[in-house]
Amino acid sequence: MDERIESKIEELISEMTLDEKIGMIHGDGLFRSGGVPRLGIPCLKMSDGPMGVRAEFENNSWKNIGTTDDFVTYLPSNSAIASTWNRKLAYQAGEVLGEEARGRGKDMILAPGINVMRSPLCGRNFEYMSEDPYLIGEMAAPLIEGIQSKDVSACVKHFACNNQEAGRLKVDTDLSERALHEIYLPGFYAAVKKGHSLSIMGAYNRFRGEFACESTYLLKEILREKWKYDGVIVSDWGAVHHTKEAAESELDLEMSVTTNFDEYYMADPLKKAVEAGEIEETVVDEKVRNLLRLMFRLHMLDKEERQAGSYNTFEHQKAVLDVAREAVVLLKNEDERLPISKKGLKKIAVIGQNAEMVHSNGGGSAEIKALYEISPLMGIKKLLGGNTEVLYAKGYDIPNKGEFSDINWQESSLEEGMEAIEEKQEAAKKTDCKEYEDEKQARIKSEMMYEEAIALAKTVDEVIFVGGLNHDYDVEGRDRETMDLPYGQEHLIQGLLEANPNTVIVIVSGSPVTMESFADKAKAMIWSSYNGMQGGTALAEVLFGESNPSGKLPVTMPKRLSDSPAHHDGTFGDEESVFYKEGIFTGYRYYDTYQVEPLFAFGHGLSYTTFELGQVWINKEEKAEDVTVEISLVIRNSGKRDGKEVIQIYVSNCGKNCGCPKKELRAFEKVELKAGEERIVTFHLKKEAFSYYKEEKQIFSSEKGEYDILIGFASDAIEKSEKVVLDRSYYYGY
Ligand code: BGC
Repeated sequence: MDERIESKIEELISEMTLDEKIGMIHGDGLFRSGGVPRLGIPCLKMSDGPMGVRAEFENNSWKNIGTTDDFVTYLPSNSAIASTWNRKLAYQAGEVLGEEARGRGKDMILAPGINVMRSPLCGRNFEYMSEDPYLIGEMAAPLIEGIQSKDVSACVKHFACNNQEAGRLKVDTDLSERALHEIYLPGFYAAVKKGHSLSIMGAYNRFRGEFACESTYLLKEILREKWKYDGVIVSDWGAVHHTKEAAESELDLEMSVTTNFDEYYMADPLKKAVEAGEIEETVVDEKVRNLLRLMFRLHMLDKEERQAGSYNTFEHQKAVLDVAREAVVLLKNEDERLPISKKGLKKIAVIGQNAEMVHSNGGGSAEIKALYEISPLMGIKKLLGGNTEVLYAKGYDIPNKGEFSDINWQESSLEEGMEAIEEKQEAAKKTDCKEYEDEKQARIKSEMMYEEAIALAKTVDEVIFVGGLNHDYDVEGRDRETMDLPYGQEHLIQGLLEANPNTVIVIVSGSPVTMESFADKAKAMIWSSYNGMQGGTALAEVLFGESNPSGKLPVTMPKRLSDSPAHHDGTFGDEESVFYKEGIFTGYRYYDTYQVEPLFAFGHGLSYTTFELGQVWINKEEKAEDVTVEISLVIRNSGKRDGKEVIQIYVSNCGKNCGCPKKELRAFEKVELKAGEERIVTFHLKKEAFSYYKEEKQIFSSEKGEYDILIGFASDAIEKSEKVVLDRSYYYGY
């Protein structure tokens, strides 16, 4: 705490009227709070979102201002950033986002989203990072630091347990305390403690009966009291439902989607409650204090020079390309099918709608106006040049959603919900596109597209299929109904592999999709999330060997939905209430422990070169308050190309009576090695790496005894196993 700033804050508060204070703690525009011009306090300007600064809206309507000055750099999604497993790149992405936000005059960027990917079906998985809390924390912290290095506040979201879109405005979530502290909170804890996120957004859902934005347990007991958080707590847009509960829950700023700003719960109703003596004015003061502290931290109030930021610079475009390259995950590469040699390549076929689809303008609040977006098709053509003929076929039909440009989904989402919006879409579809009135016509069209693609695949040596999902599926407000690829893509992929066994399969999606029916047959497979404005360039570079892939899956790809822990006992997707029956067994923690073989494991991702681990040394030092286990190991690039590999360290608590998963990720490092190069890499594990949450005592516990240290290149590719013994137990809280 900076004494000088705190006393300035107190001075300002003492000069403010109740009206002025109230004005600061609720929206006075769709994306800004009220200021106090008399005292030189500006309003706080916010913007979505995780993949770039969102288009500019009018202050009091959901209409885009419609000028061309709000096109921006389109960053890889959080799921893509997490796939790099590269902390430096996360920082670099943060710097771009922060600088663009500042360049657009914003004080707070509503990002990153870090909720746990509990189910493959959650519509917002693409905005989130991983199924693993450690990976989330390690990637979110540098991303946040990068944003905030530009005098802009990150706003990490959505706190907490916001893991589905079904019933998102009301669903009541419950889970064990152990799962809460081991799985769903650590990412936020790292965001606050390591990333120093200056603000945090509450969630829409209920948590054990209370709305998350009014939850005394989440906001007061955990965030403020246990974690000593002194940043700003912002509501999600329209997530506040009561004046007293919200005011007394430690929420600082109420935002919403409607324009009756004075009627917000923390506006006139709160003022009246204070005047009537029902709520102490000090409660309001505390919120103002937190907001003013944020403003000082961002140099909005003091004399220090604030960074001006910039947007759409070449540096930003280059930075997002760096991230995109390392976000591409090579899932399979039998017979060294990839990379494709471009030498003498006369003709290739590219098939599938994600080869040419633009994604930046969709997804919900993560949508942006990208300055440009290089599609895979353009990336491939750009890389190959004019001597190679690139033939393209869509391969499958995407039914037109119809025009509904006068409906703003976000504005309608509070009152109507996504279903009503969809009904409007359906109605629009009926009037807009006559061709779809006849379903038979649609089927004929699909069949023709299929036949055209298959015929094309037969005439060329190289076929690249680029399909997957898009923001009709990876979208805010709605979960997917199945894990299957839409638009008959499985059928098409099977046909293509039949017609041309060399077909390379590229899946672009923010969530796991079913791939079992073709994964055996395909020789080469790539997965990429939404990879930003340079996504197509990055993909083409990997396909043709100009860059060596090094992305790793941040989420397990199960064979089928029913294998997934959130689904095998049916606790996902209920609109009224969900209980996370699988507890701490999310993602690979479940697949590993219960021996359910996934299609592609957490942490998996291949390279065009090979890596080997050599000798491992373990050293342990135990002191009363903590333990340090030092692991040093030799890693060698044993192949013929320069490349990057992620060394993953898992700790196994098995054998103890603590009900722990078989193994848990506790450390990782991405290393770059030239062909033939060898290096020693050192890791340090502290007590946290051996701990679990003991519910009865409400503490973390690292108990004495033997642990396995498992070292490898994926959760299912453990190369070395060592043992370490803790001679004493460690118990600790936050
Ligand atoms: C979303 C938030 C977003 C906010 C403002 C809400 O619908 O859940 O993630 O930041 O809108 O657009």
